[in-house]
Amino acid sequence: MDIVIAGHVDHGKSTIIGRLLADTHALPDGKLEQVKELCARTSKPFEYAFLLDALKDERAQGITIDAARVFFKTPARDYIIIDAPGHIEFLKNMITGAARAEAALLVIDAHEGVRENSRRHGYMMAMLGVRHVAVLVNKMDLAHFDQAHFARIETEYRAFLDQVGVRPTAFIPVAGRDGDNIAARSPRLPWYHGPTVLETLDAFPAKGSDLERPFRMPVQDVYKFTNRGDDRRIVAGTVESGAARVGDEVVFYPSGKRSVIDTVEGFNRPEATTIATGEAVGFTLKEQIYVARGEVATVAGQRRPALSSRLKVSLFWLGRSPLVRKKDYLIRIGTARATMRIETIHRVIDASNLSATDAPSKVERHEVAECTIVCNRAIAFDVADAVDATSRFVIVDAYEISGGGIVREALADRQGSIRERVLLREDKWEPSFIAPERRAARFAQRPTVLLITGPREADRKGLAKHLEARLFDEGRVAYFLGMSNVLYGVDADIARGLENRQEHVRRLAEIANLMLDAGMILIVSAQEVTQDELDVIKTTVDPDRIETVWVGDRGVSDLSCDLTLSEREGDDYNVEQIRALLIDKGVLFRPW
Ligand code: GTP
Ligand code: MG
Repeated sequence: MDIVIAGHVDHGKSTIIGRLLADTHALPDGKLEQVKELCARTSKPFEYAFLLDALKDERAQGITIDAARVFFKTPARDYIIIDAPGHIEFLKNMITGAARAEAALLVIDAHEGVRENSRRHGYMMAMLGVRHVAVLVNKMDLAHFDQAHFARIETEYRAFLDQVGVRPTAFIPVAGRDGDNIAARSPRLPWYHGPTVLETLDAFPAKGSDLERPFRMPVQDVYKFTNRGDDRRIVAGTVESGAARVGDEVVFYPSGKRSVIDTVEGFNRPEATTIATGEAVGFTLKEQIYVARGEVATVAGQRRPALSSRLKVSLFWLGRSPLVRKKDYLIRIGTARATMRIETIHRVIDASNLSATDAPSKVERHEVAECTIVCNRAIAFDVADAVDATSRFVIVDAYEISGGGIVREALADRQGSIRERVLLREDKWEPSFIAPERRAARFAQRPTVLLITGPREADRKGLAKHLEARLFDEGRVAYFLGMSNVLYGVDADIARGLENRQEHVRRLAEIANLMLDAGMILIVSAQEVTQDELDVIKTTVDPDRIETVWVGDRGVSDLSCDLTLSEREGDDYNVEQIRALLIDKGVLFRPW
């Protein structure tokens, strides 16, 4: 069982862990004496916390500690205790899956009482859904083991936890340094009749029910078999919830692609036909479909994850600069990444005193906020309480994890109805015998839609056709498709006015999807594509396979492009610019 220990600086976390190790005989023989001796020799008072450092140095010998994780066992079960020295470490551990605590010990110094971080940590536990929490009121020796003193702290902190919805399983008076109420009941606290820390740990209910939850495995990577002629791929990741077995139909979201699990693969594991929560594994598929990192594998027929680009979230902000609107951030949920912006900050709460501000303009460090965020593509996730792991996210600002939280609600976005059609399309899709990778290898290109757009007066078509010719001449499989090539044929049944523009774009995107499946580089020219229209295309085809080029004056366009070109440079120059982009993005495998 993974337990996180948190609390204000110096309130005694490390001491309590050290004491737990010593009292459960988790220490290597002679270690305690050795550290005590060293302290005596250097005239330093001995600290149980030193044990942790001493063990860290011996990691090479394969003992009990690594980074901030400590391993020990009781007769009841094995534990990993995660020391969370600060908020960022705690968030990172909880969300990136380095360690995912099911229960928490919150440490409060009896002498200092409840501090801001005691409250903030309590708030984060509540927000991240750590279900079992025990509060240790430490250093009772400094409070003369006084019952009334303990009761005051308990009353104050209980009231706080109650407001954030945490109901602690125990409030325990302890003296970590001396071991009172850690592993053994303390004669110095005769008025306390509750469990010791160790008894409390053993009483935390084990998870286990996760197997009944829906299957979720965020795709970490897709590996090739190295055998020649074997074009199967291993879809690898960690199962975050539920279980799946050989023969199960799996659906990947957000793409909606589906196939059947053929084999379960893994290093150093006995041959298996099932995979379950907590396992880092891989599986192969019966049909060779295109799956990439960032998708979530699920089992058909079970509860589907939410799919949207708009999310209502609760988040905890830790960034040096405040979280603001009109700025791009990176969001990570599971293995998926997207660019995101804040649409609305509904409410900001100071986690240390729960005071709230309505309609704020930014979120400052250490504040908690309810926000609506918008991503540049749809992601697959769950809402909090359904599946924890796939509802937690972190926000990255300037390469640093600067915040994190949970998804409360999937909000409707403008592509909802188109997305449902795409999911149905994928449901009914008949895959061919030829794996997409084989086409890509033969054509030496990654299938891509290259969208060339720009203002009315720019010669988009000229550039697009020049590019097509250039690629064709060097042996690529490329095809030019102008909007008018579609308007009078595929779109013959609908009026050509602006009012049908979304449907025109959707059909164009469906054609693009077929061309991509055929392995093509499709060069599309269309006048003044808007961000909204690009979002329709991104919903209909894999967003990783779209490159956008703007040619001419930007005007008031809101479209985010991969490349902006000026007509003045001439087609030859611009064609080479686009080729450079395609090589850079790995679309053209080798410059011929
Ligand atoms: P950080 O990791 O810096 O946040 O601190 P921490 O919470 O890990 O605290 P640590 O265990 O390092 O203890 C801080 C100080 O409190 C040390 O000097 C300990 O000896 C002292 N301390 C810990 N437990 C007790 C206790 O039960 N009684 C007394 N009197 N001192 C204690
Ligand atoms: Mg410490």
